[in-house]
Amino acid sequence: MSKTRRNRNWYGMMDKDGFIRRSWMKNQGFPDHAFDGRPVIGICNTWSELTPCNSGLRDLAEAVKRGVWEAGGFPVEFPVMSLGETQMKPTAMLFRNLLAMDVEESIRAYGIDGAVLLGGCDKTTPGQLMGAASVDLPTIVVSSGPMLNGKWKGKDLGSGTDVRKFATAVKAGEMTLKDFMDTESGMSRSKGVCMTMGTASTMSSLVEAMGMALPTNGALPAVDARRAALAHMTGNRIVDMVKEDLKISDIMTKENFENAIIANAALGGSTNAVVHLLALAGRIGIDLSLDDFEVGTEIPLLVNCMPSGKYLMEDFCYAGGVPAVLQELKDNLRSAKTVLGGDISAYYEEAECYNRDVIYSLPSPLKPAAGLRVLRGNLAPNGAIVKPSAASDNLLEHTGPAYVFENIEDLKANIDRDDLPVNKDTILVLKGCGPKGYPGMPEVGDMPIPAKLVKQGVRDMVRVSDARMSGTAFGTVILHVAPEANVGGPLALVESGDMICVSVSDGSLELLVEEAVLEERRKHWSPEPPHYERGYAKLYIDTVLQADKGADLNFLVGKDTRPVTRESH
Ligand code: FES
Repeated sequence: MSKTRRNRNWYGMMDKDGFIRRSWMKNQGFPDHAFDGRPVIGICNTWSELTPCNSGLRDLAEAVKRGVWEAGGFPVEFPVMSLGETQMKPTAMLFRNLLAMDVEESIRAYGIDGAVLLGGCDKTTPGQLMGAASVDLPTIVVSSGPMLNGKWKGKDLGSGTDVRKFATAVKAGEMTLKDFMDTESGMSRSKGVCMTMGTASTMSSLVEAMGMALPTNGALPAVDARRAALAHMTGNRIVDMVKEDLKISDIMTKENFENAIIANAALGGSTNAVVHLLALAGRIGIDLSLDDFEVGTEIPLLVNCMPSGKYLMEDFCYAGGVPAVLQELKDNLRSAKTVLGGDISAYYEEAECYNRDVIYSLPSPLKPAAGLRVLRGNLAPNGAIVKPSAASDNLLEHTGPAYVFENIEDLKANIDRDDLPVNKDTILVLKGCGPKGYPGMPEVGDMPIPAKLVKQGVRDMVRVSDARMSGTAFGTVILHVAPEANVGGPLALVESGDMICVSVSDGSLELLVEEAVLEERRKHWSPEPPHYERGYAKLYIDTVLQADKGADLNFLVGKDTRPVTRESH
């Protein structure tokens, strides 16, 4: 038996405590040799019927188990909190850090030597990785994989992105309510995550680009048999990783984070990747800030997938997926270790592109310099972000008058008023949707275009808020303004009619109001009272960091890898 494996202190003791742990586990039919010191692999599962995007994870867990047994390990599956993006109120992001706590404490408290993280829906991937990083055992991710392409009347439908387009078309009288309702079933016709390049597929692709999952994890459809084979191979590999003591901190270096930022630009990936990468880096102790996202600024858009392009994840997979994109980016990527123990180049050196309309080449990209941009200025001293690849080119340099919604209730009550004093040049401003204000920083930053403007043919406007937006959303949307309004950031002081100047080329976001006027307004400002007075939500409001720090809870930053020594029996 290994002297160093963690499970020895749970299952290797020939005393009362060892008896109790082994005996109770044996009630599931595990034989004596399961406890002979072989690597114990925890399969951390976010399967839930309330997280439909993760509904295939039970099957994948069985495939991982086969791989673990085959490689001489002992697999044990355990559930953790699941986060159904489309099902949870007020927002799944409120609970990302709670999932991370669940994962961290579960991994630490049980006698496991390595972990396989089964996630997929938006917040499950970062939440699981953040928690696992704070324990820092050998760990690999297996993602749910995307749904098959949506289909309706012979056309492809992209989850999230097309819902927004159709909802606007109904508002404009260009689509019937019956057709709108008909698309509902065609949009989601298999297990898996949103099949646009939303946050879920962004994160599963970035996990691959960071070397934390096996190659092809990002794009293989959920129902493709090759994803089950990937899960099986992951079960094989995690056993060897435990033997090699190849931990998360050995893999997730600054270079890997930079590779993720570069890949995200080429993928047209989600703005949510910013808060998740920042939070994850904080867990591992990597010095990553918004300034580091500049490594992606000049990277062109290569992947022609919604919401930045027209295809869907199934098409992306068949065109070559993440390995083909990494192959294109090879001169930009940093040398970095992966779960296979070697360099990331092994993931793409034999990769090919099979469809140049889906994956463009670096010399001839879909859009130049398309990485997420960080904006700063007196309206966002600690930064804000915008996604140029999903924005309107003519609005990336824009000055216009603000129309302010004080909170989400104000927006919902008034956005479609016929007498709303807005035109196509107005900049819509939404306050009170930052990490503390909402709380949870919901995906409402892509405010709907006011009905009166939709009827005039307006389909995009500059929008500014301290909120996030869905990875499936699009438009000239400036997000994550920090500090948020509810802690007294300058956003709190904006009034309707103020002029705002946005320059994406300069990286600036300025409120064109005299400082003395703002000071006067500040004297009369007070935050909205908190929406929660107890429980986890209160803990969250009291301790959450701002968006530019990843919106983790302040006491969860960092890790604790000390052995657990105290006994309960
Ligand atoms: Fe779960 Fe999009 S809602 S992945």
